Amino acid sequence: MPYTASWRSPSNIALIKYWGKQELQLPRNPSLSFTLSSCHTNMKLTVAIEGPASLTVLYEGLPKSSFETKIKSFFSRIDTYFPWLKHASVTIDSNNTFPHGAGIASSASAMSALALCLQDIDDQLQNHTTKNAGWWSHVSEIARLGSGSACRSLFPTAALWGITDGVEASSDHFAIPWQGQLDPFYTTFEDTILIVRDDEKPVSSSVGHQLMELHPYAGARYATAKENLFQLITALKNAALLDYFISICESEALHLHALMLSGPNPFVLLEPPTISIIKEVWRFRKESGIPVCFTLDAGPNVHLLYPKQYKESIMDWIKTALVPFCAAGKFIEDHIGSGPEKIS
Ligand code: DP6
Repeated sequence: MPYTASWRSPSNIALIKYWGKQELQLPRNPSLSFTLSSCHTNMKLTVAIEGPASLTVLYEGLPKSSFETKIKSFFSRIDTYFPWLKHASVTIDSNNTFPHGAGIASSASAMSALALCLQDIDDQLQNHTTKNAGWWSHVSEIARLGSGSACRSLFPTAALWGITDGVEASSDHFAIPWQGQLDPFYTTFEDTILIVRDDEKPVSSSVGHQLMELHPYAGARYATAKENLFQLITALKNAALLDYFISICESEALHLHALMLSGPNPFVLLEPPTISIIKEVWRFRKESGIPVCFTLDAGPNVHLLYPKQYKESIMDWIKTALVPFCAAGKFIEDHIGSGPEKIS
C-alpha cells in the first residue's frame, strides 16, 4: 500500500529580503517575513517505498515535467534525511491559488508543502506522531534546502531566518516563529497584491542570488539588511513605530531592485506600472494619512501592506487609482495567515 500525505502551505512576503546565499542555501543576511494565507499550495504526496524509483510531478492533476529538475536536485540534497527516497516511487500532485512564477513566492509555498509531506510520510514510516517546536524547525531546515524563502512559510504570522544578534535560537539553517514579540496590531495586516505581470519572470531568484556573489555592493547590502532588521524588529514590537515600519519596508523593496540594477550583469524586473503604483502609494499616503506601504518581491508585482481597519478606503482607492496599472485589472486579496495545515 502506498503512503500518502496532504498539506496546505502558504506563501510569505519578506519585509527584510533574503538576496544572496552561500553553500546550500545558507543566507548571506537574515530576513523576516509575514506569512500569507490566501496564496498557498495544496499538495498531495503519494509514496510507494518499495519502488521502482520514479518521480511523477502533476500540477492541477496534469503532468508538469518542467518542475522535475528542481525537485530531483532537492531530493538529492535531502536523501540523508529520507534514505527511502532513493528507491521510492513518488507522485507529487499540487495546485497553487495564485499564478506561478509571477514574483509571488510559489517556490516558498510549494517547497514548504513538499517538506511537510515528506516529513509526514517519514513520520508514518517511523510511527512518530509528535509535532513539537523541534519538528517544525526540522521541517523548516528541509524546506530551506528546496528554496531558501520556503523555510519561513512554516510558521504562523511572522518568521525570522538567519543568525540575528539579540534573537535567541535564530539560525541560518532554519527559520524560527516570530509571532510572540509582534505588537498584535500587526497581526491585522492585509496584503493586497497588485498583479502587474503574471507571466514567468525573465531572471529567476536563484540566478539573482548567484549574481550577488559578484556584486560590488554586496558587503554593504548585507550590513544594511542586518541594520534594517534590527530597526524593523524594534518597530514590530511597538505599533506606535508604524512610520519606521513603513520606511524600512519600502527601503528594503527598493534596495532589492537597486541591487539588480547596479550589479555587473544588470537586469530589470520592475515594469513601468510598478513605478506608477509606487508613486501613487506615496501620493495617497501623504494626502489621506492612511498608513499603507508597499513591498516588492523579485518581480514587478506590488504588495500593499496596511492594517485591516483601513480596508474599505484602500479598496476604493485600489479600484479607482491602481487597477488600471494591473494586468487585466488583476489583484489578489491576502492577509497575514496562521501557517500550514494538514489536509488529511
Ligand atoms: C526576493 O527563496 O526564491 O523573494 O533559495 O534560490 O529558491 P532560492 O530563492 P528564493 O529567493 C527569494 C528572494 C526574495 C526575497 C525573500 O523572499 O526573502
